Amino acid sequence: MNNLSQKKILLIICGGISAYKSLELIRLLRKQDVEVKTILTKSAKEFVTPLSVASLSQGKVYDDLFNAKNEAEMDHISLSRWADVILVVPATANTISKLSAGSSDDLASTVILASDKDIFLTPAMNVRMWEHPSTKQNLNKLKSYGYKIIGPEIGDMACGEFGEGKMTEPKNIFQTINEYFGELNKNKRLKALITAGPTKEYIDPVRFITNKSSGKQGYALAKSLAKRGFQTTLISGPTNLQIDDNINLIKVETADEMFKATQENLPADVAIFSAAVADFKVKEKKNEKIKKQDHLSLELEKNIDILNYVSKHNSLRPKLVIGFAAETNNIQENAQKKLIEKNCDWIIANDVSNNSIGFDSDFNEVSIFYKDKEMINEKLAMKKKSEISEEIINRVIKQLN
Ligand code: PMT
Repeated sequence: MNNLSQKKILLIICGGISAYKSLELIRLLRKQDVEVKTILTKSAKEFVTPLSVASLSQGKVYDDLFNAKNEAEMDHISLSRWADVILVVPATANTISKLSAGSSDDLASTVILASDKDIFLTPAMNVRMWEHPSTKQNLNKLKSYGYKIIGPEIGDMACGEFGEGKMTEPKNIFQTINEYFGELNKNKRLKALITAGPTKEYIDPVRFITNKSSGKQGYALAKSLAKRGFQTTLISGPTNLQIDDNINLIKVETADEMFKATQENLPADVAIFSAAVADFKVKEKKNEKIKKQDHLSLELEKNIDILNYVSKHNSLRPKLVIGFAAETNNIQENAQKKLIEKNCDWIIANDVSNNSIGFDSDFNEVSIFYKDKEMINEKLAMKKKSEISEEIINRVIKQLN
């Protein structure tokens, strides 16, 4: 099935012997009505000519960062925004190294650094270069930034050696990109709702009860969902975070406001409750600032449990309801209890007694508990919250499909 029609692909060709294969990829993409613009690095021009690339792509070939005519037509920032995805074919060891260092000393690296789109790298190099620890480290870094890697394969190389490092064949690169857009198109029909961040429960006009949640985990989940095509609504308590324009952000302060916003934004296909909602609110919020006094007693009352409410109301209940459990002890026991009591499909538990993960950290380590699976739990080892989110959303997509 052709999922590529009318898509816009920016193809960056780097200087390696397999650069010639990018011509075949252009041909395959053009056959499916893909609009292709290309950037040739300086060394790529040693392997393929701008003329052959232009003839096949029937589009403009860019090669120079400091080109007044090109910048006037489409500047390098607009070029990175124009594309639906960026493909780097072949991705040489040098390009991989430059990208992992965040260099921007030519048009290709500048456009990539300025891009907010998914970027696919198709590595191609000699087996020793591929196996070198610095290449491995650079690639791991790029993967943690969200770069997608296609290949390489094992096989005979142009240099006469045999091993891993051979670029994936154009038809297989094409297939991967076609599947990527296929999934995106499918997910576009699905709605996701995420709660994130803390809530503020006011005592008086200037004082409130809150917690350490930064919203980072929930925002990362929303970003992953939106990137994979979901219509995403993020209901967020107070945070200092920014979010992409393609996410419907609803800002709230209190648990009551979060509850109302949640109800107003259902139905959804999947709902993920990552907010650290205050369990209690002050029974009588004072309208004026409380004066200094020797003792102050506050009567608290329970807030509504949003997750519990949504998962037990059939008319509102999304197909997939995922809760989080922030635990400091007896993680497994407490998480399983919440899974059942709150009628979730999955509970994602994190250990918040450890300051290097969980609340306000860029990292997390989680265990996923499934209602309908025999296995007790599935652990995702410590990594950036953006990576944890990608892994969770991979599982969400698999489940919904
Ligand atoms: O925001 P960060 O700094 O990135 O930190 C991430 C996190 C640690 C806050 C996050 O990973 C997390 O664990 N979120 C859930 C925190 C929490 O309140 O857990 P809980 O065990 O108290 O609640 C269980 C579940 O019920 C949660 O899904 C919670 O959103 C939900 N809940 C709880 C109370 C309430 N009144 N309404 C709810 O919906």
